Amino acid sequence: MKVTVSRKAHFNAAHRLYRKDWSFEKNDDIFGKCNNPNFHGHNYELIVSVTGQIDKETGYVIDMKVLKDIIKNNVEDAFDHKNLNLEVPEFKDLNPTAENIAVVIYNKIKPELSDNLDLEITLYETPRNFVSYSGN
Ligand code: NI
Repeated sequence: MKVTVSRKAHFNAAHRLYRKDWSFEKNDDIFGKCNNPNFHGHNYELIVSVTGQIDKETGYVIDMKVLKDIIKNNVEDAFDHKNLNLEVPEFKDLNPTAENIAVVIYNKIKPELSDNLDLEITLYETPRNFVSYSGN
């Protein structure tokens, strides 16, 4: 019997979507307003979901205090109020799309969890646009 527990978190960050190896015109065609050279911000909403067996002693899949600290240390402290392109090393050469941000978050959190727990990241870039990644 497996149960999924989820915790929501939040961060504000700025980004610009572009490729250095493309002309401004091509970047403009593909990324539109997201190619604004002066960057723009989003209020990202994050849902971190952990799936596993209920521990017989504690009754938990994972202690939510532990999960909260993992998210704070690996995501909020690293991304909140940052310019993702300029200040977050993972995006130095990686376009900070919602898709890529979700993968980076997954790769930061997964090693912090026990091997028997599955992880899914859901990231809202706007209230209507969201992506999810579970390591596949
Ligand atoms: Ni954007």
